[in-house]
Amino acid sequence: MPVIEVADLVKEFRRTKRQEGSFAGLRTLLTREQTVKRAVDGISFQVGLGEMVGYLGPNGAGKSTTIKMLTGILVPTSGTVRVAGTVPWRDRARNARQIGVVFGQRSQLWWDLPLRDSLWLIGRLYDVPTARFEEKQRQFTEVLDLGSFLDTPVRQLSLGQRMRGDLAAAMLYDPSILYLDEPTVGLDVVAKERIRAFVGELNRESGTTVVLTTHDLDDVEELCDRIVLIDHGKVAYDGAVAELKTRYAPHRELVVQTDRLESVEGAEVVRREEGKVWLRFDPARTPPAALVASVLARHEVTDLSIVEPELESVIHRIYADRG
Ligand SMILES: Nc1ncnc2c1ncn2[C@@H]1O[C@H](COP(=O)(O)OP(=O)(O)O)[C@@H](O)[C@H]1O
Ligand SMILES: [Mg+2]
Repeated sequence: MPVIEVADLVKEFRRTKRQEGSFAGLRTLLTREQTVKRAVDGISFQVGLGEMVGYLGPNGAGKSTTIKMLTGILVPTSGTVRVAGTVPWRDRARNARQIGVVFGQRSQLWWDLPLRDSLWLIGRLYDVPTARFEEKQRQFTEVLDLGSFLDTPVRQLSLGQRMRGDLAAAMLYDPSILYLDEPTVGLDVVAKERIRAFVGELNRESGTTVVLTTHDLDDVEELCDRIVLIDHGKVAYDGAVAELKTRYAPHRELVVQTDRLESVEGAEVVRREEGKVWLRFDPARTPPAALVASVLARHEVTDLSIVEPELESVIHRIYADRG
């Protein structure tokens, strides 16, 4: 059962074209020539209940624009979106109760208020019963480690602290869907890890459906089984992370520490360096166990390991192929 259904979604932004040269301002006003930017260009996908999907693509691909239409902030130019039975931009109030949203670049919290007061206000806005609110606040304070800055005005929080506050605010009223747009941008490793752990736990414990936009593919490797990859407003790939690797990067590398190795059947020597040899092979044709056995039978080996392709390099290859 899909909980998010997106079909043929299009968003165009119109801007009055600025004229150049003398009297540019006046001529811009008079001509009112418009340029049209198709930020989202016919996107379709579905997300099932409890899925965690990575929504990826290069800068300007249309990710944030899509998220804004899914959350009801923007109205599409054409196409349809259904989120748990609602049309987000038409039924904003109902949709707002079932979704939590975190934009890494922009806080939803009240800048001048202590985090504690922001959370309290959000609890009131969403009619969270007092006992439930207190339970949630206690739980999030512990898991997201908010204790030391609950009474600090949001404007004084570090980026990582603010992001944790934003996550708590987004999940206070138990929404079943969470949209995260670049939640780890600019954070250090520890803060990133804490946010990933929190999101992973939400999904496991409460079955929260998560749509995640990120530049950090470690977020994706850790949280998502599936990715939707977009490029120039169109879907370039939609499927399992593992399938993406086998389809676009079928090769593995066997790294062998050995004194001498000229060649091995079923693999190609792609690199040599100080007693190490890199052998590239296709596991569908040369089973890794057979390759390892054949290397060990013929050579004096002190160490060996099999290297998986990095998601990052796989994705780069897809964009390169698309030109
Ligand atoms: N409000 C807007 N007005 C005009 N163009 C916009 C607006 N918002 C986004 N765009 C353009 O639409 C394209 C997609 O933007 P965006 O969805 O923010 O990309 P992403 O989040 O994938 O980096 C970009 O070319 C961007 O400049
Ligand atoms: Mg964006």
